[in-house]
Amino acid sequence: MARSWTPSSWQSCVAEQQPEWPDVAARDGALAQIAGFPPLVFAGEARSLQASLAQVAAGNAFLLQAGDCAESFDEFSANNIREKLRVILQMAVVLTYSMGVPVVKVGRMAGQFAKPRSSPFEKIGDLELPSFRGHIVNDVHPNAEARIPDPQRMVQAYHQSASTLNLLRAFTKGGFADLNRVNAWTQEFVASSPEGQRYVALSAEIERALDFMRACGIDTENYSSLHEVDVYTSHEALLLGYEEALTRQDSLTGQWYDCSAHMLWIGERTRQLDGAHVEFLRGVGNPIGCKVGPTTSPEFVLELCEALNPAQVPGRLTLISRMGADKVEDSLRPLLHAVRDAGHPVVWACDPMHGNTFTAPNGRKTRHFESIVDEISGFVRAHKAEGTWPGGIHIELTGDDVTECTGGTDDLTSDDLDDRYETICDPRLNARQSLDLAFRVAELIRDAV
Ligand code: TRP
Ligand code: MN
Repeated sequence: MARSWTPSSWQSCVAEQQPEWPDVAARDGALAQIAGFPPLVFAGEARSLQASLAQVAAGNAFLLQAGDCAESFDEFSANNIREKLRVILQMAVVLTYSMGVPVVKVGRMAGQFAKPRSSPFEKIGDLELPSFRGHIVNDVHPNAEARIPDPQRMVQAYHQSASTLNLLRAFTKGGFADLNRVNAWTQEFVASSPEGQRYVALSAEIERALDFMRACGIDTENYSSLHEVDVYTSHEALLLGYEEALTRQDSLTGQWYDCSAHMLWIGERTRQLDGAHVEFLRGVGNPIGCKVGPTTSPEFVLELCEALNPAQVPGRLTLISRMGADKVEDSLRPLLHAVRDAGHPVVWACDPMHGNTFTAPNGRKTRHFESIVDEISGFVRAHKAEGTWPGGIHIELTGDDVTECTGGTDDLTSDDLDDRYETICDPRLNARQSLDLAFRVAELIRDAV
């Protein structure tokens, strides 16, 4: 017998990582406000994403999920959104052209605000402060007042998500993402770099292919798939009150959807089988993800698949492994094996970022570009050995010229980190490193299959 589910049934389970709102009435007021706002995405869109992810699960497509670690209320501008989209489009083009399969594009965008923390307090210098939990909860500034959770921030996060999504829709459907403009997505600081040069060569080939099609009499103007892309949105479903407030019943199917984003995922810290996050997401119709770390057992993963996708619907569940470069091959293989044998049609994606974070001698949190490539390489080897499809990557990036991850072709060292270290949370790949990574991933997968 399936247990009954409602948008609020998570409230009778233990919910990890929820802020302690000082004023419960103010929190409920903010949530009631959001519950009255229009949905950000529509059920039909979530269903198309799920259909595309089913293609990934079947080994016929590749998932590119990318964006900020945490979106910021301060870095909120058309430029910021456009630059991030450019990098995602460039990576998608490289992957599509080099691998010859469709790339499903999902942004960590338009809602990726809430952050789980390892401790409720953090030390900054001599100060001990309540932890920063993302701009949807409190402010990052190192003083006690800034760290008080403010429920009106959830309302602001909703509005910022709405405008981000609006711009994304305009860019992806309004001409910016046209394949005829493949060259125009390169930013200045990328153009002269080795990966930039490689991209110029690839885009010239694409332009020639389009010319060829036209010369053959194909009216390329008439194919909207050449001019438009679908870029879906996703975030970690961490603040369950916020997610519940945006959960709506689809009038077409009667099914509930979390209309805050197309895809939602559960983090490594909140994936308890009897916990509130699993309870909430098991009942919504969206495609969902769950992070799995190096201590995950095959038995646990199977129970997770049973809890989140008992009907074994292809594309419904994406498992995002985040093992660490040195552990991935050994830790992942038993999981791949167990899930394959049980017949669960999951998408396997590799998060090569979160298992490879360390603190540099100057105190900056960073990641080596080469460890990121190494983890993806181990991920691909594990899949090759088990006969499963390395379905995608899940990465943290920005379109800006930041210095947060070391390595890459300009060989950033930990001494360079202070130059432009701008993230409010984890270190992100810059636009050059991201493009470089796309070429490396395409090669790894091409060589393996
Ligand atoms: N619509 C196709 C796709 O999404 C082709 C395409 C158009 C495309 N513009 C793009 C692919 C930009 C990658 C990036 O695959
Ligand atoms: Mn992160």
